[in-house]
Amino acid sequence: MKKRIRVGLLFGGRSGEHDVSIISATSVAKALEPSKYEVVPIFITRAGAWRLGRAGETDLSAVRQHGLAVTPSVNPSGPKFIVLDKLSPHSKLKVDVDVIFPVLHGTFGEDGTVQGLFELAGIPYVGAGVLGSSAGMDKDVMKRLFRDAGLPVVPWVLALRSEWKREPTRVRRLIEEEIGYPLFVKPPNLGSSVGISKVSSARKLAAALDLAAKYDRKILAEKAVNAREIECAVLGNDRPEASVPGEVVPINEFYDYEAKYLKEGSRLAIPAKLSPHQTQRTREMAVRAFQAVDGVGLGRVDFLLDRTTGKLFVNEINTLPGFTSISMYPKLWEASGLPYPQLLDRLIELAFDRHREKEGIRYDYKPGS
Ligand SMILES: Nc1ncnc2c1ncn2[C@@H]1O[C@H](COP(=O)(O)OP(=O)(O)O)[C@@H](O)[C@H]1O
Ligand SMILES: [Mg+2]
Repeated sequence: MKKRIRVGLLFGGRSGEHDVSIISATSVAKALEPSKYEVVPIFITRAGAWRLGRAGETDLSAVRQHGLAVTPSVNPSGPKFIVLDKLSPHSKLKVDVDVIFPVLHGTFGEDGTVQGLFELAGIPYVGAGVLGSSAGMDKDVMKRLFRDAGLPVVPWVLALRSEWKREPTRVRRLIEEEIGYPLFVKPPNLGSSVGISKVSSARKLAAALDLAAKYDRKILAEKAVNAREIECAVLGNDRPEASVPGEVVPINEFYDYEAKYLKEGSRLAIPAKLSPHQTQRTREMAVRAFQAVDGVGLGRVDFLLDRTTGKLFVNEINTLPGFTSISMYPKLWEASGLPYPQLLDRLIELAFDRHREKEGIRYDYKPGS
């Protein structure tokens, strides 16, 4: 029998999307074909402790309760992770994984921090690298990259939290003059709509800015668009491809945390009802947005389609989008002819491809050589 690939399935994490990550990871663990892959579950608690499950264990709840403590090794030639048994902290066990699948969303999972660890340890991993992850996390940097790539983005202004505290009148005036109502206020480095408010009048602006300031040192304000929300899945490394576009129809006024996770009634329409021209344009823009942030492997590009003018704006890219079997990203690929288990095969293949490509890069330099 061909040697199975050991997939380190990293899930949980310190972000607000901890629970979503557990659901996504459970779907992935169940769908990884057991004849091809051996799942090594690695759970990160809310407090940031790492726990290791047994190889082959796909019941992720067991790992969460009884796993061993694991500390990532940064020694590229040594074991990829050093495991410390909780009961005997000095006995070092070795776990090697062939590839890491970080099924983590948001801060410390999708933002390049954990990707930096994989780079140091020299482990192939699924998804964007350090730069793509962090650029795709920061809505201000991301929008600048999109704009630079010639992609239409909703007008925005950025203020530092410290500016808002020090000069509230100036910040208010800036937002009102540059953007105007209705507008959205967001903490740029978050997800799941946490800390985001829609502001229709001057009366509610200060509270929205205070809320966003709780979650980030930067605050972003942008024009509210009366929009349909269109999403497109991108897959690939240097020659990425786009899926058919889908549409999210939120149950609330906008796709807030409640509409995403708590309340029933938000709907996905796959494929989205768009004209052939709009479909084509969405797919083409999705690929360009992916490339603009230096995407690798996968990304879900979200659009705002203005109901009044028909103008299409790129809203954001998610480099580790929701990955449950009913999430938009896998559903879009399924509708494009790539079922969930094959999508996982492809993502793992892309992780190895990228790793091999990087192995050909020279990091040393001797003058005269
Ligand atoms: N400029 C905007 N105009 C209209 N709706 C918006 C705008 N920005 C955000 N939204 C709404 O807020 C939701 C969350 O915003 P988004 O920028 O996608 O942040 P997150 O990363 O938390 O998903 C969107 O899905 C959409 O419903
Ligand atoms: Mg979003």
